[in-house]
Amino acid sequence: MKLVVRPAAHGDAERIHELIDAHTFREDGSGYLIPVDTEEIRSIADDGRFFVADDDGSLAGCASVLDYNGIAELRSFVVAREYRERGVGRALLEYGKQRAAEAGHEVLYALVNKEALGVFESNGFEPAAYRPLEKLQRDCIRCPLYKRGCREQTVVFRLPSNGNR
Ligand SMILES: CC(C)(COP(=O)(O)OP(=O)(O)OC[C@H]1O[C@@H](n2cnc3c(N)ncnc32)[C@H](O)[C@@H]1OP(=O)(O)O)[C@@H](O)C(=O)NCCC(=O)NCCS
Repeated sequence: MKLVVRPAAHGDAERIHELIDAHTFREDGSGYLIPVDTEEIRSIADDGRFFVADDDGSLAGCASVLDYNGIAELRSFVVAREYRERGVGRALLEYGKQRAAEAGHEVLYALVNKEALGVFESNGFEPAAYRPLEKLQRDCIRCPLYKRGCREQTVVFRLPSNGNR
């Protein structure tokens, strides 16, 4: 594997969409990610906030760090099945932390499912009882599981302050 984590290019949007779409929340309670359409992916990528794990041209995984009202959120974090448990998720998390720290954030947060909680905890994230209002207004409201009982857990990673970088 020749893995590089790099900013997503405009032209990656369709492949990213395919990967995310195979893992979105469904009415039957399955799924792990908020649906995101290709247009939104392109626009986030054009702002430099979507990144991909690229294995010599193959899309191994992706994630984005959104920044709204001073809050950094890791979103759309997924690794293609054939690449799992080989450190790709860890590489994406590290890149996301770096991006959030460079943007001046103190905390990077994510909403995670039970199965992925261990991955976050082994990368320094801690469970927290907190869900930003902006997240509810922007994403949760369009999730098929919003009214049927969300089981996601908030986790936070405390980023090093400027002085420690
Ligand atoms: C969660 C996901 C992105 C992890 O990707 P991955 O490439 O398999 O993760 P890694 O191989 O980098 O593993 C990272 C760490 O988590 C650990 N880990 C991996 N799978 C784990 C699991 N199911 N439970 C607990 N720990 C796990 C690894 O041992 C590793 O620990 P280390 O860094 O101390 O060695 C991947 O399973 C996935 O795409 N799942 C479906 C989508 C999803 O749930 N996304 C998260 C939404 S919040």
